[in-house]
Amino acid sequence: MFKVIRVKNYEELSKEAFKVMRACVKPGAVLGLATGSSPIGLYKEMIKDHKENGTSYAEVSTYNLDEYVGLPLNHRESYYTFMHTNLFNELDIKEENIHVPSGLGDIEKKCVEYDEAVAKAGGVDIQLLGIGSDGHIGFSEPGTPFDQGTHVAVLAESTRIDNQRFFNDLNETTPTQACTMGPKTIMTAKKILLVANGVNKADAIKAMLEGPVTEDCPASILQRHADVTVIIDEAAGSKLTKY
Ligand code: GLP
Repeated sequence: MFKVIRVKNYEELSKEAFKVMRACVKPGAVLGLATGSSPIGLYKEMIKDHKENGTSYAEVSTYNLDEYVGLPLNHRESYYTFMHTNLFNELDIKEENIHVPSGLGDIEKKCVEYDEAVAKAGGVDIQLLGIGSDGHIGFSEPGTPFDQGTHVAVLAESTRIDNQRFFNDLNETTPTQACTMGPKTIMTAKKILLVANGVNKADAIKAMLEGPVTEDCPASILQRHADVTVIIDEAAGSKLTKY
């Protein structure tokens, strides 16, 4: 079931997303977090609230959606680094409560262990998501079976082109694989919060909200989830006809 909140711009999107996230931050909460440019404004709001109002993350744990395969933790573009730079370093969260999938070593085994750890933590209370221009969530690309848990994904060419801006060069340094929560893992979250802005996301948002439930658009599986809040700006919602 979708609750769709349409806002004017990215600033409003971040503030609305913060309200939803803030309501879930309490001792013992398990937050599912995401990377990408979409959640950065929300993370700024969380940091501001922590600094100004003392909202504590000392008893909160987090599970991130995904990580590139092959990048060392301290690589400037690893999602581990992204999360520390854009959020964790500014909060009072404990390092041992932070979980980011590993893109190094025996990844297949670590993927299975990641889903086990999420389940052992009691599941994710709120899963934050962005969306890829091809409808991917995390790095679960079109064609990923809906019953797939955390796995190693081969990045779609369009995703690599979207993400090339962070790396020096498409062929040499833009990663080709990632370790990501699968649709099955994401669907176990009690609540989902998806944020999207910009015209580049308009087709994916339309397919997710108004298209058929199909593995061709991984985000469309969210039509089967009981509690999804979608926050979109004017451009991302510009192709919708029913909402
Ligand atoms: C990457 C991430 C996704 C994210 C997507 C969109 O592919 N793995 O989790 O949703 O980028 O990124 P952006 O928010 O920068 O558009």
